[in-house]
Amino acid sequence: MESKAAKNLFIWATVICTAVFIWLTIDTHLSIPKRTNTDQLTDEVVSGKRVWHKYNCNDCHTILGIGGYYSPDMTKVYSSRGENWLKVFLKNPESPDPQRRKMPNQKLSDDEIKKLIAFFKWVDAIDTNEWPPEPITVAKATGAPIKDTAQILKGKNVYNQNRCDLCHRIGGQGGVIGPDLSHVGTKRDTQWLSQLVKNPKSINPTTQMPAYPQLSEDEVQALTGFLGGLK
Ligand code: HEC
Ligand code: HEC
Repeated sequence: MESKAAKNLFIWATVICTAVFIWLTIDTHLSIPKRTNTDQLTDEVVSGKRVWHKYNCNDCHTILGIGGYYSPDMTKVYSSRGENWLKVFLKNPESPDPQRRKMPNQKLSDDEIKKLIAFFKWVDAIDTNEWPPEPITVAKATGAPIKDTAQILKGKNVYNQNRCDLCHRIGGQGGVIGPDLSHVGTKRDTQWLSQLVKNPKSINPTTQMPAYPQLSEDEVQALTGFLGGLK
């Protein structure tokens, strides 16, 4: 290539790339209000963010990628946990399970909890291009037959991970908002239990029990096996 042609190529490539870059920047900025639902940014959402900072929640948690990596990301917590669950959890997050990482009870007032939930709801609705991604460590079905005891342990784990204990007691441990489950297996079968866990409103339309549609079929099976065994 002659040096003149090389120079032209350099100049045109620079001009085209700069133009594309500027166009993409403008496009991003124009789409931000829509993707972040700016029109729904109410005073309550803003006060929720202030509560979040007042208690330094992001020392331990990330939200939209910003914060500490000690505990779960909060970006999609509103849709993954639901409002009722969050209300109960934020009132007293301490788990009786000594193996779990603990979130300290910050003694939040009902008003602060309401504002935080409004903030989480708004953040949840932001179009983040599917971020954060699903954790790559999510357990997959092995296809191999699992021994009964392993299955029951897995079900117990699903119960703990989803913090069902916030509202339910088993053997005297847990909350009192929902019924005691210590002997639930004597009156409910696994089919009923699995319908309840996936969609409690289909059983009682006014229930406070949150739905757990995010649980895989495998997890529901393990969970209801564990509950069904509580006799
Ligand atoms: C000292 C660290 C720490 C601080 C500070 C903290 N958290 Fe947590 N948080 C945790 C841990 C650890 C968990 C996981 C607890 C568990 O799974 O039992 C958690 C769990 C949560 C969850 C449930 C997430 C889920 O899906 O399981 C929410 C919601 C939450 N925290 C909100 C908050 C808010 C709001 C604040 C500030 C008022 C806050 N956290 C401050 C450590 C912390
Ligand atoms: C925010 C509180 C809350 C959480 C969290 C919660 N539940 Fe419930 N649950 C309830 C309430 C309240 C009821 C009472 C049913 C109704 O309202 O009709 C209930 C009912 C039940 C029942 C039926 C008991 C019976 O015999 O009638 C089972 C089983 C159950 N929950 C299991 C679970 C499991 C498993 C989880 C976790 C995956 C869970 N719950 C999480 C509040 C909760």
